[in-house]
Amino acid sequence: MLSYIIEGGHKLEGKTYVSGSKNASLPILAAGILGPKLTLYNVPQIYDTEKTIQILNLLGCKVKKNKGKVVIESNNIKEFKIPDKLMRELRSSVVLAGALITRFKKAVFSYPGGCDIGVRPIDLHLKGFEKLGIIVKEEEGYIKCSADKIIGTDINLDFPSVGATENIMLAAVMAEGETTINNAALEPEIVDLQKALNKMGAKIKGAGTSIISIRGVKKLKDAGHNIMPDRIEAGTLLAMTAITCGNVELTNTCPEHIIPVIHKLEEMGCKIDIEKDIIKLSVNKRLKATDIKTMPYPGFPTDLQSVFGGLLTTAKGTSMIVENIFENRFKYLSELKRMGAKNTIEGKMAIIKGVKKLSGTEVDATDLRGGATLILAGLAARGKTKVNNIEYILRGYENIDNKLNSLGAKIKQIQWGN
Ligand code: EPZ
Repeated sequence: MLSYIIEGGHKLEGKTYVSGSKNASLPILAAGILGPKLTLYNVPQIYDTEKTIQILNLLGCKVKKNKGKVVIESNNIKEFKIPDKLMRELRSSVVLAGALITRFKKAVFSYPGGCDIGVRPIDLHLKGFEKLGIIVKEEEGYIKCSADKIIGTDINLDFPSVGATENIMLAAVMAEGETTINNAALEPEIVDLQKALNKMGAKIKGAGTSIISIRGVKKLKDAGHNIMPDRIEAGTLLAMTAITCGNVELTNTCPEHIIPVIHKLEEMGCKIDIEKDIIKLSVNKRLKATDIKTMPYPGFPTDLQSVFGGLLTTAKGTSMIVENIFENRFKYLSELKRMGAKNTIEGKMAIIKGVKKLSGTEVDATDLRGGATLILAGLAARGKTKVNNIEYILRGYENIDNKLNSLGAKIKQIQWGN
């Protein structure tokens, strides 16, 4: 079991960088199946990207990795079945399906299953595939997709699902004719996927708006792409600085990707300066309570809901959080209560009454972003906090302990038990 021991009470001060985006890397790694050679830079070295690369290797791709540089060669790929075990370990590998169907006109994978934050259905992905003329069968727990031809068409998403938008883009990129995705997700990670695919010779436009059009092409070519900065890591590091009343400069950011987050931090009393890809945050007094409602982009991101639930725990006043995207994303609140937090949950709303200080104790991470919240709480708590199950956190945050220690935090990683 891996845990962090965090000594609270140290202000975060100094400068650090934001890594490449986990949620942009995963669909763009999948796009590597479609061209002869895709060279990616600034891929974060985290569990989720390592697992995706492992799947690409098992499918027959040749993947060479050197720190953040990943080169995917797919001339000899021959497998179109995503390994069960890896599908279970990494539900977001469902985004490989669209790429495999484009490459082989078939794909086989098991249901990605839910996770700690919700059921995570993929009905919108499969409905989009069927609209493209792909036959989708469910047999003995497997989803078997096949098509003679993939025919471009008009697709309307009932909900602006990020994964469904990405999967349909990957399935339509070499279809016959034009595909339009209406009510597409607007997230920046989708714009990054469009950029990478167009560098490979695709003809996609509209990413970042709710209407994406994809003109199918016959072939894709060698390309290189630099993964965009991780907007959720940026928001997480800003909140961690704020709860310690610190003063930090973040480099390699895209401030325009986290406008609602920056506004909320300013509303709470943080001083923020922005210069190009640099965000500076400082706090010199107790933060004020505020209300948060998570929404699809460009609204407040659900992936920062728990981090702000931690930050608001010691703000002055009572805050309300409404989680509109996932059905089970408040689990971290009970762990914060063990540290002295005062919060109650009423359906998809959480009420947080600010307390002056949290007290360090032993807490368990139950998902990626909830785990990041427990680190945030430990940074500002009295005494020591032991955060267990940090494997969750290592899925999505590259080098987070070293980055925080370089800013003055005192975090030690320990291995214990069997
Ligand atoms: C992506 O998940 C991200 N993951 C999530 O980040 C992020 O929280 C989410 O988008 C929303 O922004 C990756 O990009 C790998 P959705 P995804 O499809 O694609 C429902 C993190 O912490 N839905 O936009 O799974 C679904 O149940 C992770 O980095 C359907 O009903 O999100 C949810 O309520 C967590 N049917 C809502 O839509 C479908 O077919 C949003 O899901 C698909 C989704």
